[in-house]
Amino acid sequence: MKRWAICYVSTASPDMEEKDIDNILSYTENWNMDHNITGILLCSEGNFFQVIEGESAIIQELFANIAKDSRHRNLIKIFNKEIKNTTFTGYEAAFLSKQTKNLTQNISYLEYLKYLYPASQNTVKNMLKAFVD
Ligand SMILES: Cc1cc2nc3c(=O)[nH]c(=O)nc-3n(C[C@H](O)[C@H](O)[C@H](O)COP(=O)(O)O)c2cc1C
Repeated sequence: MKRWAICYVSTASPDMEEKDIDNILSYTENWNMDHNITGILLCSEGNFFQVIEGESAIIQELFANIAKDSRHRNLIKIFNKEIKNTTFTGYEAAFLSKQTKNLTQNISYLEYLKYLYPASQNTVKNMLKAFVD
């Protein structure tokens, strides 16, 4: 089976409310788990960061759908490539700004990671490190 991975960032459309984002997160978590898609969808401060990995045709078809979704814009692809093995072990969708809303101090993106499942934390940390190093 040919495996594919796509990673991008985008901006939520201005009319999006918290409940609309919650709907996207729960919908994607269900659909992706049912279709053996691994990865992550994070939403923080009105921005999305997503990685989807799985069977090539499914990933490319899903991405074409996501890319034309009017609930976000300014989509920037970070990678779009064939992979030997998947990096993520499951699929997680998280609304980071909500979980950290009650914190008064500003926290960095890397610090947000501690609100994810431990397995996702390491994968995202390694991915972000690749940009910094
Ligand atoms: C930021 C963002 C990420 C999304 N990620 C996924 C996803 O990973 N899986 C999924 O099934 N739908 C995702 N969607 C929803 C799709 O764009 C689309 O609504 C869904 O595939 C249903 O398409 P349909 O209404 O044409 O059947 C995402 C939407 C947005 C705005």
